[in-house]
Amino acid sequence: MNKKNTQFSVELSRIISGLPPSGIREFFDLVLTMDDVVSLGVGEPDFSTPWHIVESAVFSLEKGYTSYTSNKGMLELRKKVANLIYSKSGLRYDPENEILITVGVSEAMDIVLRAICNPGDKVAVIKPSYVSYSPCVIMAGGKAVEIECKKENKFKLDPADLEAACKDNIKAVIFNYPSNPTGVSYTKEELSEIVAIIRKYNILLLSDEIYDTLTYDFDHTSILNFPGMKERTVYFNGFSKGYAMTGWRIGYLAAPPEIAAMANKIHQYTILCTPIMAQFAAMEALRSGDDDVRAMNKEYKRRRNYIVSQLNDMGLTTFLPQGAFYTYTDVSSSGMNSIAFAKKLLSDKKVAVVPGTAFSSCGSDFIRISYASSFENIKEAMLRMKEFMSLL
Ligand SMILES: Cc1ncc(COP(=O)(O)O)c(C=O)c1O
Repeated sequence: MNKKNTQFSVELSRIISGLPPSGIREFFDLVLTMDDVVSLGVGEPDFSTPWHIVESAVFSLEKGYTSYTSNKGMLELRKKVANLIYSKSGLRYDPENEILITVGVSEAMDIVLRAICNPGDKVAVIKPSYVSYSPCVIMAGGKAVEIECKKENKFKLDPADLEAACKDNIKAVIFNYPSNPTGVSYTKEELSEIVAIIRKYNILLLSDEIYDTLTYDFDHTSILNFPGMKERTVYFNGFSKGYAMTGWRIGYLAAPPEIAAMANKIHQYTILCTPIMAQFAAMEALRSGDDDVRAMNKEYKRRRNYIVSQLNDMGLTTFLPQGAFYTYTDVSSSGMNSIAFAKKLLSDKKVAVVPGTAFSSCGSDFIRISYASSFENIKEAMLRMKEFMSLL
């Protein structure tokens, strides 16, 4: 063997080397080595994709639709997405140049951040947040400015904190509601305060509304409903959560044409297009209305009510989440921090939850529990957790 080759090494990207590994991955690598674990860790629906959606994709393949599509996604699907956004916001988006079909909201967020960031540009991330946002800002060359939501505010964004960040010259803010991991959502009145600040400081809003169909106490109001927001918003949504389609990898963005064009440039060079069968499946999902979504929503609400009352009963303070399918539960009464709690719960009772530090540097008192798991699993997990708490 050529000795020189075995000694070869390359200097790796300093940006990527500097990123911490995902807190969730680290923990779940451990879970995978164990048997009989009840996992309330993952953030994906336990339901399978409704059969008629699956069938439409299979049928499209049988008919020979196996090619690339337009980079932006099939025009027919973009038109359907434009109609859906119109029904939610009353805004008309041009499917030709304001909508892009992407590999989930994940790709959409990545390409938009890369499309807008120049080196060092500041992008605000509202914490606790979905784990990808800050790393994506950094990978795009930007600087993530984290705004912490406080327990005293039941994890709602305090408009004063947003205003302080705006004064610090941020270019954009990533806003997600209903929120992963807290389940927090915002009423129209609450949103209007946030919108007023965004307009006052002329900030771009990146609005990730992927859980918009999963709300339990009041209807979701899209940020697009507020005057003056269309031109300063990139709207993200997809099929993963509401339609139980995580594995299909399909979502979309709606944006002012110049941002959509820049994002599409990256998408063209890196992705080409979203898989055609997933696009057929998405068209069927939109064609069939929201009966499936409503049925799943009803079941999530039943689980939410059960799990929140169980957790509070065992001394683990939990606010009632208004949407998504997570609780953000305070474990400080156990005397342990979130990582110690999650590790001990896993080793003693084989229940997997995610330490809050995965979502925020201030998350050491909290764990995220997903109720996107069957009612039986949730019941079993609650039984085990009750025993766990009583033995502490
Ligand atoms: C807030 C949020 N945005 C985006 C995503 C990723 O969505 P997608 O499957 O469409 O890439 C997730 C997944 O957990 C999420 O929680």
